[in-house]
Amino acid sequence: MLVEKNVSLQGCNTFGIAARAHTLVRIRSLQDLRDVVADETLRSQPMFVLGGGSNIVLTGDVRPVVLKMEIKGLRLVRETERAWIVEAGAGEVWHETVAWTLAQGWPGLENLALIPGTVGAAPVQNIGAYGVELQDRFHSLSAVDLATGQPFDLDASQCGFGYRDSVFKHRPPPVPAGATQPLAAVRGMGLAGRAIITHVRFVLQKSWRPELGYLELERKRLESGIAEPTAQQVFDWVCEIRRAKLPDPAVVGNAGSFFKNPTVTPEQCQDIIARDPKVVHYVLPDGRFKLAAGWLIDACGWKGKSVGRAGVYDRQALVLVNRGTPECSVTGGEVMTLARAIQTSVYERFGIRLEPEPVVV
Ligand code: EPU
Repeated sequence: MLVEKNVSLQGCNTFGIAARAHTLVRIRSLQDLRDVVADETLRSQPMFVLGGGSNIVLTGDVRPVVLKMEIKGLRLVRETERAWIVEAGAGEVWHETVAWTLAQGWPGLENLALIPGTVGAAPVQNIGAYGVELQDRFHSLSAVDLATGQPFDLDASQCGFGYRDSVFKHRPPPVPAGATQPLAAVRGMGLAGRAIITHVRFVLQKSWRPELGYLELERKRLESGIAEPTAQQVFDWVCEIRRAKLPDPAVVGNAGSFFKNPTVTPEQCQDIIARDPKVVHYVLPDGRFKLAAGWLIDACGWKGKSVGRAGVYDRQALVLVNRGTPECSVTGGEVMTLARAIQTSVYERFGIRLEPEPVVV
């Protein structure tokens, strides 16, 4: 187990925010996790799990012990008549994992290409793009209970997946100091800070068909004249679409979409359409409507604007960016000030409260 003190986290979050971890432990094996739990000093402190840092806003130095997930490994667990079951270590880079599955001839993850972050972070917010969510390809995951060091597995229903949501985004209910709730009691409520994902397994069906329902992918298909694209072709199209409108975190710091797309009732949607006929909206299976948060923010005139060193990306208003320099980066406070100003103007104009998507630390 490698324990480091006073570590810069600037290179560990895709926003590029300068903040430090008081204590950081690199987790490269299950034994490292057992060592953390066995260590009296470490285990008595709150813990914060860090993957690729692509979905966090650091508003100051991090006092909980940072567990930096670096468990590697890609393997085929099982091949059945119908599917390949593939496993990846939580510390694997998500995009490289997608590329690896395609190189093996196992399609299914191509619509999720180029999403920043690690494999272990993918179930936490149930990553999704271009018509596919992680839960659509999810088989199961392995995690370790940070209170006891015991490993356990969860299937999809036990992960409580929702739109950009899972049990790993919710804290378990507080318990009196010194007491520990049995894992079974908190499993369905929230596992943030309580469990750490070590491996994720995917089920990739042999009956694969390209998922081209998303308008921009359909446009690519028509432009190319390819009626039946391969998974590799879809992967390339998704990479082209993302590169055209989302900033590369290696060049411009950001945490992807900063707000979730809000869901409204049919009445609320009609009310907004009556005032703004161009509002981008999609009907959901339950009859409610999802609105494009990027469109709402754009309509309020935020695209390209800045507050301090925090800015709104000029090609996608849903993405907030770091307009500082590595030496003088944006602060988490500036990002949150801009986020609140956006929330206020969207609320005043549309009566909708936008909910941030990244975890604010
Ligand atoms: N739009 C505008 N102005 C903008 C931004 C968007 O008018 O500044 C309009 C677009 O023209 C489009 C609609 O809003 O008609 C939706 O925009 P887009 O297709 O870019 O998708 P999104 O809803 O903004 C979501 C995900 C992305 C994912 C894309 C593609 C969320 C919060 N975001 O974005 O995920 O890549 O769909 O599936 O659901 C992420 O979560 O970090 C992320 C990037």
